[in-house]
Amino acid sequence: MMNTSKINLLFLHGFPFGPSLWRRQRTALEARGYRTAAPDLRIESSPATMDMMADEAIAALDAAGMTQAMAIGFSMGGYVAFSLLARYPERVSGLVLVDTRAEADSEEGKAGRRRLADIVLKQGAGAAAESLIDKLLAPTTLRNRPEVAQEADKLMREASPAAVAAAALGMAEREDRTGMLPDIRVPTLVIVGEDDAITPVSVARGMAEAIPKAGLRVISGAGHLTMLEQPEEFESALVGWLDESGGRS
Ligand code: MLT
Repeated sequence: MMNTSKINLLFLHGFPFGPSLWRRQRTALEARGYRTAAPDLRIESSPATMDMMADEAIAALDAAGMTQAMAIGFSMGGYVAFSLLARYPERVSGLVLVDTRAEADSEEGKAGRRRLADIVLKQGAGAAAESLIDKLLAPTTLRNRPEVAQEADKLMREASPAAVAAAALGMAEREDRTGMLPDIRVPTLVIVGEDDAITPVSVARGMAEAIPKAGLRVISGAGHLTMLEQPEEFESALVGWLDESGGRS
């Protein structure tokens, strides 16, 4: 029977993916009685800012009739979760920050975003997939599990070039959120893959230490794409924390 005391879960995808990135987790969590929503944050008007994506997330909560939800944000989705918490704190009952960071881009990082946006607009979403795949996955995944790389590649090619470029330019504009961390009062879990090359364990640890009472779970055998590389470990980290933290509103 559905446990109606369980909190709602809002899954926010990363770049350059779409909501299907969370397919396995939504199925697993819904089977456990959670209600979930997963907005499509691929916006074609450029730059697609984190605030615009947060507005999409609020529209998805409204459409699902959810007053509040725990925001589970992966990488770019984590940047969106920070915007949600800053602008709509009454809608956020907790945070799960997955392979993400609070810092803004460096100047070099911003220049890289602009280059990627140019290339994608000229050559298509496949160009982003090709330039990112080696950084997204752990070396062991790349070596031993070609099916995971194929799935990630396929998912990245589903986005329109305009949406990929707009998100890259939107991320380049995002605010530094490190000042928010000590004031976060909602239950928070930080999850990171042990071989994450984009947002390494040291970044995740620093973020978890700056947030009062945040938990940290390191997923072994995973790089940046923890939910695709180690879905079972990811789910047990999330469910274990939800059960023990009373991620209930
Ligand atoms: C993501 O996974 O969403 C991206 O790696 C985020 C980023 O490039 O900063």
